[in-house]
Amino acid sequence: MPNILILHGPNLNLLGTREPGVYGTVTLAQINAMLEESARSRGVTLRILQSNHEGALIDAIHEARGWADGIVINAGAFTHTSYALRDAIAAVGIPTVEVHLSNIHAREPFRHISVIAPVCKGQIAGFGAQSYLLGLTALAGR
Ligand code: DQA
Repeated sequence: MPNILILHGPNLNLLGTREPGVYGTVTLAQINAMLEESARSRGVTLRILQSNHEGALIDAIHEARGWADGIVINAGAFTHTSYALRDAIAAVGIPTVEVHLSNIHAREPFRHISVIAPVCKGQIAGFGAQSYLLGLTALAGR
């Protein structure tokens, strides 16, 4: 898997200051730096995008058809609501791993449902920034 798209969904740009009791104090820039370092050591090239807009995330998934071998996505709250994101992942057929910083299954009931999970290879939740690294490892090893 030489080329992987990392997608960060809504509100993840605020990591570091956003609900630190839930998400910790690590910033998105720090997560991206960890991912870049891990990718470099595996000979994997990353493209990384954060967007608060559902359509921008969908466009990025469509464009990934031209170049990406895998996708790691933290869709934020769109995880629980976006059939459009789910359909985009299903449409492109690129192996996708869903990741979450928090354990969505241990939180409010509305977070227990992921509408994207059925079209993803798997889900990693609850390990903070490490969830992203585990997602990358899972894809890179395929
Ligand atoms: C999240 C969990 C979602 O429920 C929430 O809406 C987020 C972050 C996580 O990484 O734990 O924005 O995806």
